[in-house]
Amino acid sequence: MIHTRDPHPVERRLNRKVLLGVSGSIAAFKAAALVRELVKAGAEVQVVMTRSAHDFVTPLTLATLSGRPVLTELISGEGTWNDHVHLARWADVMLIAPLSANTLSKLAQGQCDNLLLACYLSATCPVYVAPAMDLEMFRDASTHSNLELLKARGVRQIGPESGELASGLSGEGRMSEPEAIVARLHADLVGASKLNGKRILVSAGGTQEAIDPVRYIGNRSSGKMGFALAEEAAMRGATVQLVTGPSSIATRATGVHRTDVVSAAQMAEACKATASTSDVVIMSAAVADYRPANPANSKIKKKDSALSIDLEPTEDILAWMGAHKPSGQVLVGFALETDDAEAHAQGKLERKNLDLIVLNSLKDAGAGFGHDTNKVTLIGKGTKAEPLPLLSKTEVARAILDRIETLL
Ligand code: CTP
Repeated sequence: MIHTRDPHPVERRLNRKVLLGVSGSIAAFKAAALVRELVKAGAEVQVVMTRSAHDFVTPLTLATLSGRPVLTELISGEGTWNDHVHLARWADVMLIAPLSANTLSKLAQGQCDNLLLACYLSATCPVYVAPAMDLEMFRDASTHSNLELLKARGVRQIGPESGELASGLSGEGRMSEPEAIVARLHADLVGASKLNGKRILVSAGGTQEAIDPVRYIGNRSSGKMGFALAEEAAMRGATVQLVTGPSSIATRATGVHRTDVVSAAQMAEACKATASTSDVVIMSAAVADYRPANPANSKIKKKDSALSIDLEPTEDILAWMGAHKPSGQVLVGFALETDDAEAHAQGKLERKNLDLIVLNSLKDAGAGFGHDTNKVTLIGKGTKAEPLPLLSKTEVARAILDRIETLL
């Protein structure tokens, strides 16, 4: 049984950056609950409101719940430009909820007289709209054709539902409930991944072992494979702890919690701290096998004679994980072999009590350290080795996670 630290695990994890457009409809009051639901599911939310939406819900409410200032104007305050292009590119998904008849008509015509409309025109991510209006407005032919036009352009519609309306009438036009909107986003964007709600530990990059205060023993690992695994796992709804050696890569993904370490000993400490509460552990880091036994406190001076440095073994973190594996945990290791690759990887799988080992190719062009592509073979316990073609590291990450899902 794996213990999770979260006593109320979230049913649906939506590790996405959501640009939430709120337009002027009475249903804007539901935007507060919507922001809460999104944040609860793990989303980062940036609210953009139209001026008339302020009449229905205060920006302060939505700013407080989202933890980010709410934006309305293209240019605000003392000539501050609210960069719609950057906002739209930041977002993994744009959601306009509620969508009023007026904003709908402007979207359909490509108008651009406020920030929300400018963001919509700049968006390259999926766009969802949740219309909300009175039943006759919703029934109107122009509303109908505007919505059809948006859908033909790829916009996805959520609701509206039938029921009691603010006017006292009853019929179609009620904005879908916040829970239903989040459920739809989750179903479309995350799907039924078995990694949803799971805790994953991923190690990435290479470690550095100090020789003296300015020199170290390191390796060529860039961290790209581990970062791709972390980001893909978060996309599937997992909460990811990423422990990385020094890397120039930035983590953009929501749901990835990053710990930076330098040495193998620090990586061991950080990984051990979360291993027992993780449902899946993926050790993709290139951890040094040896470190200088006596690192110098001050810079070693050059001499005419040869210099030798005594090395001592580091702890094998993966072997420790295998020896302390809680039942139900899926433990994945990486291997880099030059001779008799499959047999050695198979041996490592058994010796270290792994469920899956990812064998890296060194011989193929475009595979291994520093590249954006990789060529690996997946070897599971008691299963035939599965060689994958040369793929982008994101595609390799997807294939590894697909295989992990079958083991959960
Ligand atoms: N690993 C680890 N701790 C270490 C060294 C390696 O956790 N001190 C992990 C790596 O993250 C990787 C796996 O062990 O998942 C394989 O590493 P590798 O160096 O290829 O294998 P070793 O077991 O060290 O065996 P060898 O050097 O003989 O190939």
